[in-house]
Amino acid sequence: MKDYKRILVTAALPYANGPVHIGHMAGVYVPADIYVRYQRARKRDIRFVCGSDEHGVPITIRAMKEGVTPEQIVDKYHAIIKGSFEQMGISFDIYSRTSNKVHHETAAAFFKKLYDDGLFEEKETEQFYDEKAKTFLADRYITGTCPVCSNPNAYGDQCEKCGSALSPEQLINPRSTLSDAIPVKKKTRHWYFPLQHYEAWLREWILEGHKEWKNNVYGQCRSWLDNGLQSRAMTRDSNWGIKVPLPDAEGKVLYVWFDAPIGYISATKELTEYWADYWCKEDTKLVHFIGKDNIVFHCIIFPAMLKAHKGFILPDNVPANEFLNIEGDKVSTSRNWAVWVDEYLKDFPGCEDVLRYVLCANAPETKDNDFTWKDFQDRNNSELASIFGNFVNRTWVLMHKLCGSKVPKLHEDILDDDDKWLIKEIERSKLNVEGCIEEYKFRDGLYEVIDLSRKGNQYMQKKEPWKKASQPGVDIQQSIVNQKLIDNCLHLCLQLTANLAILANPFLPNTAKKMLHMMKVVDKILDWENAGKLKLLSVGYSLRAPELLFRKIEDEEIRFQVEKLKNGLVDNSNNQSRSLSGPNSSTDSNRSEPNSYRDVNPKSEISYDDFAKLDLRIGTVMACEKVQKTDKLLKLTIDLGGESRTIVSGIALHYQAEDMIGKQVVVVVNLAPRKMKGIESQGMILTAEDKDGKLRLLRPEEAVNPGSSVS
Ligand code: MF3
Ligand code: ZN
Repeated sequence: MKDYKRILVTAALPYANGPVHIGHMAGVYVPADIYVRYQRARKRDIRFVCGSDEHGVPITIRAMKEGVTPEQIVDKYHAIIKGSFEQMGISFDIYSRTSNKVHHETAAAFFKKLYDDGLFEEKETEQFYDEKAKTFLADRYITGTCPVCSNPNAYGDQCEKCGSALSPEQLINPRSTLSDAIPVKKKTRHWYFPLQHYEAWLREWILEGHKEWKNNVYGQCRSWLDNGLQSRAMTRDSNWGIKVPLPDAEGKVLYVWFDAPIGYISATKELTEYWADYWCKEDTKLVHFIGKDNIVFHCIIFPAMLKAHKGFILPDNVPANEFLNIEGDKVSTSRNWAVWVDEYLKDFPGCEDVLRYVLCANAPETKDNDFTWKDFQDRNNSELASIFGNFVNRTWVLMHKLCGSKVPKLHEDILDDDDKWLIKEIERSKLNVEGCIEEYKFRDGLYEVIDLSRKGNQYMQKKEPWKKASQPGVDIQQSIVNQKLIDNCLHLCLQLTANLAILANPFLPNTAKKMLHMMKVVDKILDWENAGKLKLLSVGYSLRAPELLFRKIEDEEIRFQVEKLKNGLVDNSNNQSRSLSGPNSSTDSNRSEPNSYRDVNPKSEISYDDFAKLDLRIGTVMACEKVQKTDKLLKLTIDLGGESRTIVSGIALHYQAEDMIGKQVVVVVNLAPRKMKGIESQGMILTAEDKDGKLRLLRPEEAVNPGSSVS
């Protein structure tokens, strides 16, 4: 392993022709962000660059179809994508775009250097041309009948029905997808980069030098190299893109896969005047996070370009992920079979970390994986909420109840095996998590974090500090010992919580923030070097009330999402994702409103057991009078079936005393009695308050026997 001084992390530049979906997030951005946040916490010199990929045929086609300019398309989606990343907490140091001037200059200069060094081959070939749309056609934009299976909608590069690889010449009745014109052959001149000249070097560099790359990446590289490399055109006929910086090159632009990766360099230039340290010094570790469809470009073509240009470092690793399917089916932006991040963020406000969690826990690191809404719900409810959230919450509640809201002392003289075990686990987890992240095994790293909180729960369950709380009849000596045991348990659980915040931070940054707030500590505590240690929270320090870390996700929300996905499904061959505007915008109409009740007085989650502690009964009002010298209070006598109670309730502004008689109401019967204006109220009746503050009684729909229980 080399001793690196700085790290440059790049994440694939998304095409600005549609919003990003969760497949992009799982494959590229979430893992990249975890890596970067971890390295920052280790205080390493690291930069994280990305931006929108705004050139290429898909963008011009999309613009043509929607009757707008390519600029309008990229402006719109650049903003949407950037916003989604920000909300998801993807912490780029810069999110740039390839339409920037710096980038045009950088990419053009790169091309010019290779040209001046005589590294391109200039060739004239015949290519398919659409005379109606006045444009050359990429193979993908020609359709016709498959010569193998007779599918009438095969593409010029592949038949999606039988899987045959095709070339446009093989199609029967070829048509342009742009105008339906019959494509004709037309001569055109382009600059080709002879990849085969770099083959021997690439074999050595990758196949010998980077055996540590992930299997899927290494394997793909080997198969490209074994199949032999060929010259590839680095220019295209188009008006949208970076102009070829040569005289006599009217109507020619750089191939999008030539310019886009140079976008990483341009973005770094924009970010810092020291950009060259990150691109040219051998002690920089360059890491490209990408999806599997980008492997050849990042492992073969771009490195060959960098090598040819001279003066640049090469990637140390390219941890590409496989694809994430949705509900058992491949993501298809054309069929709108996708979960769009901007929509998720609207439907699940405040649940950014949940998506990060699910996408990482289920990341397609070694093979394609499936995202299902059910799994999303389960992972939230039974992992995040019931394990991690529950541990933190129990710790906090018990610390407030049993330790006076302060960090209790650790009595080292009475540490037992369970305590020592937990301390070891804390140390071990830190090492495991960092080992996983350094090796790009983010799923395993995240598992370790949840597992540590699971161990916290086990420990707590074993110690049962609530049972040691002083009870009548326990002698003083015993209760001192008991308090020490409580102190030790909660001291360790609190230190464990602080550790969880540090370890979870790269994965779940918002959650870590909330935990910092509960602990009343500053961000500094999240420095990685603090992990594995005990003394993070000082004895005697008073802590805040617990906060809800993860709410439950309800069946109804999941049903809604599954429906939305199915209803949004489009059956057409419209090559792009959601449309920019207009009546065909299939998913825009399916956008849901956020659940607004959560915005009003949200309460933290309780378990069913908590709920079941409430004893709710139906009672009938036998007598009622106003409490003297008050405006608001009524005194009610309520029959609960063989028992009558006196209850004081603040409803006098809303109900007349005489109107109450005979009404049935819902009563909380096991609420501790409370004196109000000298009268002991033995329970409470339930009302609903509307937004104007008006109170209305909750009552059974039909009369029931007094004393009936409510659940
Ligand atoms: N826009 C490409 C895609 O979405 C990725 C470009 S990565 C870069 O597949 F290296 F070219 F920038
Ligand atoms: Zn076919």
